[in-house]
Amino acid sequence: MFPEIENQKKRAGFKAVEKIKNGQIIGLGTGSTVYYSILKLSEKVKRGLKVKVIATSKETKALAEELGLEIIDLNDVEKINLTIDGADQVTKEGYMVKGGKGALTREKIVAFYSENYVIVVDETKLVNSLGGKPVPLEILKFGWKKTINFFREKGVKAKLRVKNDEVFVTDNGNYIVDVYFSSIQEPEKLERELNNVPGVIENGIFTKKPNEIYVGRKEGVETIKISPLKFI
Ligand code: 5RP
Repeated sequence: MFPEIENQKKRAGFKAVEKIKNGQIIGLGTGSTVYYSILKLSEKVKRGLKVKVIATSKETKALAEELGLEIIDLNDVEKINLTIDGADQVTKEGYMVKGGKGALTREKIVAFYSENYVIVVDETKLVNSLGGKPVPLEILKFGWKKTINFFREKGVKAKLRVKNDEVFVTDNGNYIVDVYFSSIQEPEKLERELNNVPGVIENGIFTKKPNEIYVGRKEGVETIKISPLKFI
């Protein structure tokens, strides 16, 4: 990784935890940018801040536990005060492609139940419109070849995700198929249509708008405000 991009991730990741208050429930996304938010949050907790966190993946849960954060189950909370997550692509309107690490389904669920939602990215992730990057679909193993062929027969490039020469299996025990669209003009429509295909559990187009996007830049962090944070 280029050191400058790493610094941008760190700046954005750190910024997202600045206003967290005692007693809050925090949703934690997955990936190399939110990693810095988790790191910074754990420092604050060591200095006395009291929060509970919900992890969106086994990876995030393991990191949070290692850093001494108190994990709580989504079923056991009334509401999530704030969720912090990364993105593979984000527009300034707040449309996103996510799921580069395969955690899209849990990430979308946690985002859905969050009062406030912020996204942390380096500047390479900010785009004018979505497209050109793989859109992950979490699919059931049952009939997986049929699901892939359905997209291919419609002329959509679709690839079963493989990692370290093995088929990638999500934390939920499913496969990921990456599908490719050169340009995504109507994200809400595509999000609905992808989820309508039997066998598709969830897709990586996210249309719940974050309240704020923190974009790490060379000079600092750009904050793109979409809707007011409700409590911070
Ligand atoms: C994981 C995700 C990540 O948020 C996304 O892939 C961005 O990750 P990173 O910050 O490592 O670039 O959606 O499923």
